Amino acid sequence: MKIAILSNGTGNYSTKRLKEEAILRGHDVKVIKYKECYASIEQSNPTVSYRGSDLSKFDAIIPRIASSMTKYGTAIVRQLEMQGVYTVSSSIAISRSRDKMRSLQLLAKSGIGIPKTVVSRNTTDIDDLLNQLGDMPVIIKLARGTHGNGVVLAETKKAAKSVLQAFYLTNDDGTNILLQEFIKESAGTDIRAFVVGSRVVASMKRQSLDDDFRSNLHKGGEGTTIKLTEEEKKIAIKAAKAMGLNVAGVDLMRSSRGPLILEVNASPGFGIEKVTGRNVAAEIIEYVEMNAKRRNKKDKVGA
Ligand SMILES: Nc1ncnc2c1ncn2[C@@H]1O[C@H](COP(=O)(O)OP(=O)(O)O)[C@@H](O)[C@H]1O
Ligand SMILES: [Mg+2]
Repeated sequence: MKIAILSNGTGNYSTKRLKEEAILRGHDVKVIKYKECYASIEQSNPTVSYRGSDLSKFDAIIPRIASSMTKYGTAIVRQLEMQGVYTVSSSIAISRSRDKMRSLQLLAKSGIGIPKTVVSRNTTDIDDLLNQLGDMPVIIKLARGTHGNGVVLAETKKAAKSVLQAFYLTNDDGTNILLQEFIKESAGTDIRAFVVGSRVVASMKRQSLDDDFRSNLHKGGEGTTIKLTEEEKKIAIKAAKAMGLNVAGVDLMRSSRGPLILEVNASPGFGIEKVTGRNVAAEIIEYVEMNAKRRNKKDKVGA
């Protein structure tokens, strides 16, 4: 198969691993910098080009869109979808995952446990907002933050109010800011479940090494292998499905009322391979083989 990995970070570990496994399995694979792709939008003839050649010849694409370039990256993926190129992650699913409010709405609607979350455009009703969440402390989150940046722990009502006021100053749209119940049972730890298709192919526990409440590896958190319960596996797969993602890094926390989903990442890092020894890249390539072929067959019979 001809496979394109859409990635601007040609030297990224995840990009290198996907390329390596695709070659090992006999595919013709190219890494395409989507920021250098250009789209021609024309009646009945959408095209995407890269360095002078048309990308419609690829059988499948694996998007690895950075959150800092979600808009452009998903526009390129959408254009390829319109040409009938198979993509392992759809443009709409990637867009959804980049907005924590939109994601939590979808997860909640699917009956998936999430930390209690409230959204507001101002601090007038701060006491009521905080009462809805229960005890202090609370978490305040930017809807488009990543790597633990944009997540704040407010210990007191006063602190919560002033942090919110500061956030509202720089965000004129209230949907960018979430107030969330603090899951104290798992403070400083969370679980990353790597989902491919209908399976969890690797899972790790992340633990912050200092007294930070955030366990992101980017914040110096340390990963160790963890065995998930059947319930946790089921909920991680359900969360990926609710978002419409075939490949997803599902973050969850253990709580006294069961597993709660924090977020679902559309371009999860491959550091989990080093922690768990699982070959995540091969799982993704295998998934692409199965599904791109099936789709192409379906297309040929006109379904
Ligand atoms: N409601 C919460 N209660 C306790 N800890 C949390 C909560 N939300 C986030 N955290 C901690 O902060 C980290 C980052 O939050 P997350 O929502 O995953 O944002 P990011 O997209 O920046 O990774 C999580 O991995 C977790 O350790
Ligand atoms: Mg996270």
